[in-house]
Amino acid sequence: MSNPSPSKPSPLNPELPVIAVLGGAGKQGSGLALRWAHAGHRVVIGSRTPERAAAVAAELNALLGEERVQGSDNRDAAHQAGIVVLAVPFAAQRATAEEVRDALDGKLLIDVTVPLVPPKVGRVQLPDGKSAVEAIQVLLGDATRVVSAFQNVSAHHLRKIGHEIDCDVLVCADDKAAGEQVVELAHAIGIRAWYAGPLANSVVAEGLTSVLISLNQRYKVPGAGIRITGIG
Ligand SMILES: NC(=O)c1ccc[n+]([C@@H]2O[C@H](COP(=O)([O-])OP(=O)(O)OC[C@H]3O[C@@H](n4cnc5c(N)ncnc54)[C@H](OP(=O)(O)O)[C@@H]3O)[C@@H](O)[C@H]2O)c1
Repeated sequence: MSNPSPSKPSPLNPELPVIAVLGGAGKQGSGLALRWAHAGHRVVIGSRTPERAAAVAAELNALLGEERVQGSDNRDAAHQAGIVVLAVPFAAQRATAEEVRDALDGKLLIDVTVPLVPPKVGRVQLPDGKSAVEAIQVLLGDATRVVSAFQNVSAHHLRKIGHEIDCDVLVCADDKAAGEQVVELAHAIGIRAWYAGPLANSVVAEGLTSVLISLNQRYKVPGAGIRITGIG
């Protein structure tokens, strides 16, 4: 597992898939974009406002010391990439997936959405008691391999490149090979991750985020996380 250093990004590797991060101008998406760019991927940030995406891309490139992040609108970003990350609030999850649907056939979609219902974000409130990501797999159909991941790592940790991330990520997918691919993508950015079963199991990862938010509030910390023990 690599441990990103602030000064030395891995060389840009044209053989690695291009990653689009929809909502990538936001907190979670920009942290993931920075870390994958640092690990050698070309990254395209998608936004409803391409100028906003371009501004955040410029910020990330300044941190990296090199141009390897671009900004665009969500549809164009999804078209450009082999792997697409959905990093928008729950209220925008379905509409954003629908908007880029025609760009996702044959691709991997990593959904990091947590179905939080403000203002009580420290309370588990899953839609119909199910994982939100399952509805996205149904919406997109079998041509898109949907993977759920990164719900339990705080944006606070991601944007600090070189900072060791002291928590694990649960990866759920109906397509096990797709899940293992995302485990490797997490390892590439210095995060320990585990394939944790089918998309239905994402209900636990999604609900756990509200538990972690409650812990953050109770213990006045910015990013509580989890560790899986007993493996390896
Ligand atoms: N923040 C964390 O620590 C964290 C941790 C784990 C999981 N997550 C999950 O990751 C997702 C993103 O979280 P975040 O904290 O990055 O959220 P955020 O910063 O509030 O929003 C991310 C981006 O989503 C887009 N967006 C916001 N409202 C929208 C709407 N109504 N319609 C379409 N797009 C909209 C915006 O991009 P544009 O304006 O550029 O289009 C925004 O920059 C959420 O589902 C969250 O629960 C977050």
